Amino acid sequence: MTKLIDQINNNLKNAKENSILQFNKEISQIEDLIPLTLGEPDFNTPDHIKAAAIAAINNNESHYSNPRGIMPLRQAVSKFLADKYDLHYDAETQIITTSGVTEGIYDTLATILNPGDNVIIPSPTFPMYQDDVAINGANAVAVDTSADGFILTPDKLETTLTALDGKAKAVIINTPGNPTGVAYTAEQLEALAKVIEQHNLFCISDEIYSELTYDQKHVSIAKFIPENTILLNGMSKSHAMTGWRVGFILGPADLIDRINVVHQFAVTCVTDNSQFAALEGLQNGPDDGLKMKEKYIVRRDILRDGLQAAGFESPQPGGAFYIFAKIPAQFNQDDFEFARELAFKAKVGVIPGSSFGKGGEGYIRLSYAASKDNIEHVVERIKTFVANN
Ligand SMILES: Cc1ncc(COP(=O)(O)O)c(C=O)c1O
Repeated sequence: MTKLIDQINNNLKNAKENSILQFNKEISQIEDLIPLTLGEPDFNTPDHIKAAAIAAINNNESHYSNPRGIMPLRQAVSKFLADKYDLHYDAETQIITTSGVTEGIYDTLATILNPGDNVIIPSPTFPMYQDDVAINGANAVAVDTSADGFILTPDKLETTLTALDGKAKAVIINTPGNPTGVAYTAEQLEALAKVIEQHNLFCISDEIYSELTYDQKHVSIAKFIPENTILLNGMSKSHAMTGWRVGFILGPADLIDRINVVHQFAVTCVTDNSQFAALEGLQNGPDDGLKMKEKYIVRRDILRDGLQAAGFESPQPGGAFYIFAKIPAQFNQDDFEFARELAFKAKVGVIPGSSFGKGGEGYIRLSYAASKDNIEHVVERIKTFVANN
């Protein structure tokens, strides 16, 4: 008799366990390790948001809400995106509140994909995209962007589409990006948008780090192709609210109607009191993220300059809180082995670049969502490691 475990959804065979968490677990037992591994703000949720959540609980905001989210929250998101990025979404018809961008990615892919569809994903990238594509029985088509400054160029997109005989359903963009920190410029997005529109593709744009954009104003591809774009954003990084699980899907009303069906089947609605917390964050703390951003910039510069002095080149991160550093030529270019060596010998925890796909081979990702002191220690440890190896 075939074991039950061998009879589960075949698509899961193509979806891997989260290798970032696995690697982090592997090295976390090392004594005195300074981990720059996880992509989580080290700040606490601002007090005014916590107070609003406590008030919501005391006011018995503990019922099912409208599946798309409470109306004041959808109105607040609509205003936030209009004020900050000149993006315009109708609260009634174009917004769904989700359990983080994580749910947004899944709901969107489950809505648009049929088995065998191709989804183009620039590599290196946030690994969840390809796993969610796989769970839905579709193919993730990775495009190596390492030679193009970690930007998907219109040419590379065209070449990929030609190789696929034009058979692609969607492209996933993430700006500012995890793991590279690279942010697309308006010109780059506009050029890419033309190709996406021409080929009638869905564009899933994950902009979870939009409030942590450093050297330019954040721009969304939705400005150029709103009818093709499904925009994902959320409270996790902008308001240090990872554990509250609040995100948003925004897009054309007819598509949002269909995505909302998947969302309802999956979760009914987002936790009611978390929605009130998010409402407070957007209404009364639209710039909460900016205070954190100032601190991130200081840390970024210490880490990047220190790494550069030790021989690690990296693209200038225009956003998020990651440095994606090339392993210097004198070291083992197997990024898993190098990251292990760094963890055991230098006591510095980083994520191997190939966890983010082929385009990340030979790199390591360091998260500077860590205290300034720890970042300074890391720089010293890496310099000593380089000098001794
Ligand atoms: C690019 C990217 N998208 C989405 C997420 C998940 O966000 P959320 O907490 O809203 O589910 C992360 C978390 O690290 C991320 O880096």
